[in-house]
Amino acid sequence: MLWLSIDRQLERPLTEQIYTQIKRRILQAELKANERLPSTRQLAQDLSVSRNVTIEAYERLMAEGYIETRQGSGTYVSYGAHFELNQHMSLSNINEERSLSDDQDITNFRSGIPDLRLFPRAIWAKLTYNTIHNCDYKALSYSNPEGLLELREQLASYLLKVRGVQCHSSQIVITSGATQALSLVAKLLLSKGDQIIMEDPITEDIQSIFSSSGAIIKGIPVDHNGLQTDLIKQDERLKAIFVTPSHQFPLGSTLPIQRRIHLIHIARAANCYIVEDDYDSEFRHEGAPISSLQGLDPTRVIYIGSFSKILSPALRIGYLVLPQPFIQKCREYKWFSDLHTPSVEQLTLARFIEKGHLERHILKMKKVYQKRRDLLIHLLHKTFPNQLSITGHSTGLHLIAEWHDLHFSKKIIETIRTNGVYLYPVEDHSIEKGHHTKKVIFGYGHLNEEEMNEGIRRLSKILNEIDLIS
Ligand SMILES: Cc1ncc(COP(=O)(O)O)c(C=O)c1O
Repeated sequence: MLWLSIDRQLERPLTEQIYTQIKRRILQAELKANERLPSTRQLAQDLSVSRNVTIEAYERLMAEGYIETRQGSGTYVSYGAHFELNQHMSLSNINEERSLSDDQDITNFRSGIPDLRLFPRAIWAKLTYNTIHNCDYKALSYSNPEGLLELREQLASYLLKVRGVQCHSSQIVITSGATQALSLVAKLLLSKGDQIIMEDPITEDIQSIFSSSGAIIKGIPVDHNGLQTDLIKQDERLKAIFVTPSHQFPLGSTLPIQRRIHLIHIARAANCYIVEDDYDSEFRHEGAPISSLQGLDPTRVIYIGSFSKILSPALRIGYLVLPQPFIQKCREYKWFSDLHTPSVEQLTLARFIEKGHLERHILKMKKVYQKRRDLLIHLLHKTFPNQLSITGHSTGLHLIAEWHDLHFSKKIIETIRTNGVYLYPVEDHSIEKGHHTKKVIFGYGHLNEEEMNEGIRRLSKILNEIDLIS
């Protein structure tokens, strides 16, 4: 049987889903030349789709030369259709399902989504209106690649106060989210053959951004205190160390001061730079707030932040705080990339911070998320007693649940998914595979009490039905 995953919740037509998956497998030689494919009738039966769907998918594959029919004997993979995709651009790396479905029958525990129902619409709308009405007409023209001074000044004082980041507004470059900041950093620091140390596990997307520069990723395992700095070995190719010290993604640990200091000593000895991704540390639920790593050595650390978690990912506003030697080059790269980040949003955000709305919004959301986190922990322990441990819940919008006796294989995740619960295995983010197979990430920021209750109820039902837990 040809194992293809069909998702009826997606907007993409079923034909397209089948065509894309078979094509990818042929290109990657998972389906080899001369291998026989199931008949369109058989495949339609296996996938519970209409035969027209499979016929159409096969016709498209045939028209493009991926498969061929042989008189009286069936359909086969054609010769010469295997092509090693560039590792960094492989189709499987491109996550097509970025937006949240609003399907009531799905509970999506995706991580890192704030509750957008609580976005401060009225204030934001009023500030945007005022910006458009009152700003100088020149503000509507092309602007500086580094972003507007109004926003950079607001940010510099906010970051010093809240995160202990030491910087002048001239060191800040406003970016299209942390994602663009990461791409700019990759260009600034890395060339083909250079080495970058990354926490293992770390988000797949960030691995792809850095590896697309041709750099070699060296994964260093993470424990309950974050990156294990004592496992780092000196290497003359080492140019950068990437960390999420306030809230390791995905495992959720916080890097203690001893390891922070050790990391800075390593970077100084290797004459390389630390990249600090501080994507969601505003939401610290336990213990005192942790200052940034950048504050310890502003000359060695490039600091990255984002408004995606504290306000909305749709704003696409993030920023970089750079040591002096990188400022000019980074402005040039930003200019080449997209000239600059939209000005009206920048001005609106500057007013939002200046008038104290940002700090009030964070305070309000912190209470909301803390309650949701507590509820999720309660539900998981109550529903799966003695079956799991919970970690990484001190900060942010997600936590990690590790089952004692359950490995989340792709097949199990798929089965859970087809029953209406989207779960995200830690293993997907592992650099060295096999160490985190029992752990899943539960994002809770965007789920209210009712949705969370329903999601855990469903998950329990599915796991019981498929009898995965003894
Ligand atoms: C660890 C980490 N860094 C950065 C980002 C990117 O955020 P942005 O939306 O600002 O591009 C994410 C997104 O979820 C993330 O998980």
